[in-house]
Amino acid sequence: MLTIKNLNKTYGRFRALNNVNLHIAKGELFGFVGANGAGKTTTMKICVGLLSSDSGEIYIDGKEVTRNSKELKEKVGYVPDFFGVYDNLTAIEYLRFFASTYGIRGEEAENLCSDLLELVNLTDKRDFEVDGLSRGMKQRLCLARALVHNPDLLFLDEPASGLDPKARFELKEILKNLCAMGKTIVISSHILPELAEMCTSVGIINKGEIKLTGSIEDIQKQAAYSTPVIVKVANGMEENAARIAKEIPATKNVEIHSDKLHITYEGGEAEEVELLKRLVMADIPVVTFYRQEGTLEQMFLQIMGEAEGEGVNQA
Ligand SMILES: Nc1ncnc2c1ncn2[C@@H]1O[C@H](COP(=O)(O)OP(=O)(O)O)[C@@H](O)[C@H]1O
Ligand SMILES: [Mg+2]
Repeated sequence: MLTIKNLNKTYGRFRALNNVNLHIAKGELFGFVGANGAGKTTTMKICVGLLSSDSGEIYIDGKEVTRNSKELKEKVGYVPDFFGVYDNLTAIEYLRFFASTYGIRGEEAENLCSDLLELVNLTDKRDFEVDGLSRGMKQRLCLARALVHNPDLLFLDEPASGLDPKARFELKEILKNLCAMGKTIVISSHILPELAEMCTSVGIINKGEIKLTGSIEDIQKQAAYSTPVIVKVANGMEENAARIAKEIPATKNVEIHSDKLHITYEGGEAEEVELLKRLVMADIPVVTFYRQEGTLEQMFLQIMGEAEGEGVNQA
């Protein structure tokens, strides 16, 4: 549905996006995660045609699109990270206005706007002034507005930020429904666990670079194995054990903390089994061997931490 190839963007000398590549299949609810300033908004604005890139390509349904492509206007909807002023419009007037910008008027517009209000749970707020609605309601109204032209691909920039749990839950349900209707959704957040509950796949961006992408199951598995295995060996054998652990290609890092080794490796259960096997076969007296499953949050912070100080942001 959406492919981003080698996307680059600089603001003056500042490199905001560094060779961003992403592929999002049709029907995905894709979570785009990164700390503030990572480049999420920049990427989205380029994808929806509000910003030009320095280089790189965007493909929608396999067709390359440029900022002014007809496909972009027809197929893409965008909910920005903050909403503008509403000039005392009511919810329905607001939607009617956007419908009219797409040439939808009269009865067709009335039906469409009513359906959209229903879809975002705002039917009972139809004649309320937008300015008086809660943040969550405004957010959902913005979503309805982005759906006026029935786009296939929808971008929502940090829609859950500042929402209370109930509003967040409502938003999630609506987004899941939209996916079930066949839409592809890209939603950004700076909180990975918040997205994990609803997304089918995620991409993690840090300082303008994609660090990790995959299905939510894969990333959760990876997160579970991202914490170090803690190995306690008989006294005096720590150095030997560390040497053997380092010989395993999957091993990323070995630290000795008093009588315990903290061993981080790439991979999953198979690598963990291999590690224990090697230690035992080398006659290392292993006293304890355990690992606490890592959480998404921990892995996210680890990715951010690993990327610290790489200086990738200078153009
Ligand atoms: N118009 C701009 N001029 C200069 N720098 C910008 C501009 N817009 C964004 N940036 C910088 O580019 C980086 C990425 O910003 P942004 O895409 O908004 O990140 P995110 O949405 O992930 O928080 C940030 O460091 C930000 O300060
Ligand atoms: Mg942003």
